[in-house]
Amino acid sequence: MNLLMQYAKIVFFTGAGMSKESGVPTYRGAGGLWNEYRYQDYACQEAFERDPVAVWEFHDKRRAAAAACQPHSGHHLITRFIAARQAAGKAGGGVTIVTQNIDGMHQRAGAEPVYELHGSLWRIRCDACALVMENRDVPLGGYQHSCGQYLRPDIVWFGDALNRGVLTKVVHAISHCNLFVSIGTSAAVFPAARLPMHAIENGAALIEINPEPTPVSQQYPKHMRGPASAMLAELLGPADPD
Ligand code: OAD
Repeated sequence: MNLLMQYAKIVFFTGAGMSKESGVPTYRGAGGLWNEYRYQDYACQEAFERDPVAVWEFHDKRRAAAAACQPHSGHHLITRFIAARQAAGKAGGGVTIVTQNIDGMHQRAGAEPVYELHGSLWRIRCDACALVMENRDVPLGGYQHSCGQYLRPDIVWFGDALNRGVLTKVVHAISHCNLFVSIGTSAAVFPAARLPMHAIENGAALIEINPEPTPVSQQYPKHMRGPASAMLAELLGPADPD
């Protein structure tokens, strides 16, 4: 039996490093998006109000890049792990994925529930009409809603508050978990970077998967220094042969 089966409630907390091996660029570090683009020009409400077309062109590129990528073995291992726990009789598998990623890769690998802390590239909204819609068109095409206002990606940009409903569910899941596994996040963005504290307060076991140390590494008694796919294979069992 996988050793992780002993934990009743598990949270996988993922960041851009989780999607790196799928080919989705991270934000920081080598090849990071914020080395090439200033977030002040493309990922905040002020930029959107100044130049919605430039902001949309940037997000259209992100959508095209994510659509061209596939979930990797690490995503599939998490999905398979959830299914194995469900088969063992744990309601919902007792596993929650909390992701800062907006690329939808966990869902494409068939995992649920996935709480998206920073929203999704695949949802758009019209703030004037208080409407949120799923949309997977690449490119989006028209950037304006039928009401005439510019549509907006349903993403938590710099300076935006997190969605309260999502945050409530996330804090509940993390506060009640017995094992918290962080995968591929630099812990540079708040309040996401503070969330592991809820697991620590609950006395959960904590594991950090990241090839590099992070500013919060000392909060984790166990570190797995390597890429997500290999470290998840070590933790959850090897991937199925193709
Ligand atoms: P970052 O780009 O800040 O950090 C990526 C992390 O992944 C780094 O710590 C890397 O060491 C690690 N990493 C790289 N390759 C890896 C691999 N193969 N396996 C595992 N880890 C690997 O990404 P986030 O921490 O997710 O906001 O960034 C947080 C937020 O900042 C993002 O959600 C985004 C950004 O602005 C929004 O999209 C709204």
